[in-house]
Amino acid sequence: MTAGAGARAATAATEGAPGPATARRIAVIGAGPGGLYFAALAKQLAPHREITVFERDGREDAFGFGVVFSDETLDGIAQADPEVFAAISAEFARWSDIDVRYAGRVRTCGGHGFAALDRNRLRAILQQRCERLAVDVRYRTPAPPVGRLAADYDLVVAADGIHSATRAAYADTFRPDLDERHCRYIWLATDKVFEAFTFIVERFDFGALQVHAYPYSTTRSTFIVEIAEAAWRRAGFDALAATEPARGESDEASVRRCAELLAGHLDGHRLIPNASRWIRFTTVRNARWRHRNVVLLGDAAHSAHFSIGSGTKLALEDALALAASLREQPSVDEALAAYEAERRPVVESTQRAAQASLEWFETLERRTGQDADRFAFNLLTRSRRVTYGSLRARDPAFVDAVDTAAGGPPGVPPMFRPLKLGTLELANRIVVPPLATFTSADTLPSGFDRAQLTAHALGGAGLVLAGMTAVSPEGRATDRCPGLWSDRQESAWRELVDTVRAVSPTPLGLQLTHAGRRGATAAPGPDGIGRPLADGWPLLAASPLPWDPGSPPPHAASAAQLAAVVDDFAAAAERAARAGFDALELQFGHGHLVSGFLSPLTNHRTDRYGGPLAHRLCLPLEVLAAVRTAWPAGRPLLVRISACDWAPGGTTEPEAVAICRALADGGADAVDVSTGEVVAHQRPPYGRGYQTPFAELIRAATGLPTIAVGAISGHDDANSVLLAERADLVAVGRAQLYDPLWTLHAAAEQGYTGPGARWPGPWSAGSRRPPGPNADRVAPRLHLRREPPAPVHRRWPPPPPGPR
Ligand SMILES: Cc1cc2nc3c(=O)[nH]c(=O)nc-3n(C[C@H](O)[C@H](O)[C@H](O)COP(=O)(O)OP(=O)(O)OC[C@H]3O[C@@H](n4cnc5c(N)ncnc54)[C@H](O)[C@@H]3O)c2cc1C
Ligand SMILES: Cc1cc2nc3c(=O)[nH]c(=O)nc-3n(C[C@H](O)[C@H](O)[C@H](O)COP(=O)(O)O)c2cc1C
Repeated sequence: MTAGAGARAATAATEGAPGPATARRIAVIGAGPGGLYFAALAKQLAPHREITVFERDGREDAFGFGVVFSDETLDGIAQADPEVFAAISAEFARWSDIDVRYAGRVRTCGGHGFAALDRNRLRAILQQRCERLAVDVRYRTPAPPVGRLAADYDLVVAADGIHSATRAAYADTFRPDLDERHCRYIWLATDKVFEAFTFIVERFDFGALQVHAYPYSTTRSTFIVEIAEAAWRRAGFDALAATEPARGESDEASVRRCAELLAGHLDGHRLIPNASRWIRFTTVRNARWRHRNVVLLGDAAHSAHFSIGSGTKLALEDALALAASLREQPSVDEALAAYEAERRPVVESTQRAAQASLEWFETLERRTGQDADRFAFNLLTRSRRVTYGSLRARDPAFVDAVDTAAGGPPGVPPMFRPLKLGTLELANRIVVPPLATFTSADTLPSGFDRAQLTAHALGGAGLVLAGMTAVSPEGRATDRCPGLWSDRQESAWRELVDTVRAVSPTPLGLQLTHAGRRGATAAPGPDGIGRPLADGWPLLAASPLPWDPGSPPPHAASAAQLAAVVDDFAAAAERAARAGFDALELQFGHGHLVSGFLSPLTNHRTDRYGGPLAHRLCLPLEVLAAVRTAWPAGRPLLVRISACDWAPGGTTEPEAVAICRALADGGADAVDVSTGEVVAHQRPPYGRGYQTPFAELIRAATGLPTIAVGAISGHDDANSVLLAERADLVAVGRAQLYDPLWTLHAAAEQGYTGPGARWPGPWSAGSRRPPGPNADRVAPRLHLRREPPAPVHRRWPPPPPGPR
């Protein structure tokens, strides 16, 4: 958005004419970067405007240290206000490297492109710009009550920071969500000038301390120390911080202790506090950003964890978009609506990345067993925005080094490395997860099942799993699901396996399930939801709780019924083995019968199958034991779980780990780590790779191989997950429905031609990526002098120019 809005603001500025939406009198609350930059741009676009900025602090009051920008934000600023851009870029510290200091080693990745400057210099430049444009900035002047401002001005811009009083005043409209996070951090500077963005992870007996440091001038660096709450207490910081410093003062004792602990990274330099104390990061979200003619901007509207860049960047982008919207829209009301519509998706996307990043740091201890190379790669890809491919494009030598440290043969992307599960050799790390077709008319696998599984087997994945298949008639999820309880079904599956085998060596697996209270529905419609069948069958569950108010209540299963379920699973496993499947997956997730026993939300039993986790594990372990006996030794047995219910009171992370430990002890060869679908009132934070952290947690805690699944759709993401050791296999579902040859196409796109990607012989002529529509266009040379390519590694400060 920024470049677009910047261009629009710039065009309007050169035209100099006020837009039709011109709010003639604007009040801005707060002279932070957001408020000042908006005031300058809005005045620039319509000089006749009367803009008053209220700021409770003094003009010279200096808080904070460096702020850091990406190239994208800088493009926007450059176009919108070249004068501000020239002033700030003259002061930038610029570099391209990220150093990761971990376990006594430093790993450096280049090619990133950062620019930082002193937050107070940025404010001073914006202050001067406002003064030249005759914006009325009133320092040491707390804003009048917002209601009064709203009555007196055409527009009130609330840029009053993370603790915004305006947001609180109209909380009913804005509906703020303030998510205070688990780590403590303290914002400091140092007179050690770091040469690059530097992450330090230092382990102590109390736990790990992490530092986010970057230079912002030739004399200073920002130095943020962060630590998990429990480690913070073990380190004794709670005692040091017990005496609350007065407003504007710092927690000097904690600063001294940080300097002692991190002396090895400071090389005799000081830590410099400025009103610094331990705080917890709060992610601010608002359901709405505007209330009549009052609008939130910057930290008041949203915050994003400091580990992915500063809030200043978002505040400046907001300012740009709001000024541009006022210029473009016919009324203030429409301008505010357009501003929110434009900014919200950008902010939410940044917040998703920030959330992944902050959670990564909160759970850092999980990865401190990794070697320095993998740890650095894991850290750099933590937000899921930076990937294997983007790092390779920026610094190929760095990715090669990580690949080599991971034992990968040179030139083989991580997804194309083989894996042995049990005695089964998988040619690569991509799995087609169970994808039910809901096409069975008679509980037999359908023609479409055969076509889909053949297509996926030809498509190059290392393992293809057939969709949920019921172990008994009443265990079906829908009346269009196949089963495996009869001889007829067994021979139909055998025939299907033989058909696929005749054209592809790809291993085939089958998912077995009893759908429990999720049974007896119609096949899902376009909304993905299957409604209860009018003439369904009696449902079985841990407890008599219907899926939702529109669903029939299930019966709480008796001990005898559970014994029968265990037998049904074992019998179906034997049939699956005879049908020739290479792998078996048990559906212990998604609210199906066994899943319903695991989750405290759906298991309210008081017998030996309910209560504490050890009891809730009874049925799953009985099923697993029976299947392990029935299923041939050596053939992999996978279990799918819902590692989290996304609802209060559901399965916790420690419980998910304990469940997987028990599954490992019970003979499972790998866990397919899904989440949710356990209760209808779940609230999952859908987004790119959102379930992967659970696969990483379980893998690290149990040593059991994991399959990551859920919104992993690009080969780049798959490679990132695998190389960072977040999982051993990656399941790609809907993207392989979109393109059943997804794996082979991924090989072609990466130029990989080895044994990890087996093109079917008859299709080998198509194994190279076809030329695109413009392939026959050859670009002429347009530059007299070629710019030398930017060096991969740029450090700060730049070396003095040497003799030519
Ligand atoms: C003290 C401090 C230090 C920071 N240090 C850094 C740093 O070193 N690096 C970094 O990247 N980010 C830092 N940040 C965060 C970053 O500056 C913010 O994300 C960014 O400034 C957001 O800009 P903003 O304009 O939305 O809010 P802010 O910069 O927080 O500005 C809000 C302004 O509103 C004023 N205000 C609030 N209420 C009223 C009122 N009722 N009347 C009048 N004025 C009011 C405040 O005094 C403040 O000046 C810091 C923030 C603060 C507050
Ligand atoms: C059409 C369809 C059918 C599915 N069928 C099953 C199934 O039978 N069993 C199961 O455990 N998950 C099933 N799933 C869930 C997928 O296995 C997978 O976990 C989910 O689609 C998330 O992965 P994705 O984001 O890569 O699609 C199904 C998903 C889709 C879209």
